[in-house]
Amino acid sequence: MSVHSTPGADRPARKPVTLHTLREMHARREPITMLTAYDATFASLLDAAGVDTILVGDSLGMVLQGKPSTIPVTLDEMAYHTACVARGNRSAFLIGDLPFGSYQQSPAQAMASSQALMAAGAQMVKLEGGGWTAETVHFLTQRGVPVCAHLGLTPQSVHALGGYRVQGRNDESAATLRAHARELADAGAAMLVLELVPSALAAQVQAECPQLITIGIGAGGGTAGQVLVLHDMLGLTRGKLPRFVRNFMSEGGSVEDAIRRYVAAVKDRSFPDESLHAY
Ligand code: KIV
Repeated sequence: MSVHSTPGADRPARKPVTLHTLREMHARREPITMLTAYDATFASLLDAAGVDTILVGDSLGMVLQGKPSTIPVTLDEMAYHTACVARGNRSAFLIGDLPFGSYQQSPAQAMASSQALMAAGAQMVKLEGGGWTAETVHFLTQRGVPVCAHLGLTPQSVHALGGYRVQGRNDESAATLRAHARELADAGAAMLVLELVPSALAAQVQAECPQLITIGIGAGGGTAGQVLVLHDMLGLTRGKLPRFVRNFMSEGGSVEDAIRRYVAAVKDRSFPDESLHAY
């Protein structure tokens, strides 16, 4: 590859991963791999390593921009990074995160924001929260926008939640989360990220909503797939990491090797490590 060519342009493409592919994988219980990426070079590495789905997460606000939370991230920034990732990716299924303030006002606002991310290359959009979001998810899916919902720890609500804490620990909050998941499934969401919830609760949500492709982060091994923030699993993040994160670079080798080890570990279910989910 010349330094002036688009990352990944020299690589033969694997068969594109579509929502249909993901549903087939889910039906045959093949674990689904997801990692975040924010630029073309990392997107190309993820794609080459066989990651099924790439999430252009609004975690870029913290990871790339050094902000204290995801809250200040704008729709223009998300569209810019989605376009960068789309240029480096050839086959992985691409999900764009709707940032805070870009979908809360009305379903029509969510549709306009989704249009911006899909024009940039996203094949699905992700939005956080339950309850009120069901109407928006229904509106979007009726109009051809595949949606990934996000329950549990929803970082855009960090101030309302009182910090980055495990969610759904008591019977009442667990029941609310399960009800929200069922509503989102009924509204047409295809995928659901479950973040920082007890593994038994995540497994219960998956069992109660078999049509949802659940993707866990700090949610144990009972979900259909796993996601990590790329910079966390590559050991690039300074400071204290959540205990569910595994550093796949610590065994040495290249970034691509580390991503391949992550893919292999999710596929053979050696990641996540259940002993790290004592909540
Ligand atoms: O923004 C993000 O990276 C996310 C993942 C942590 C799921 O939402």
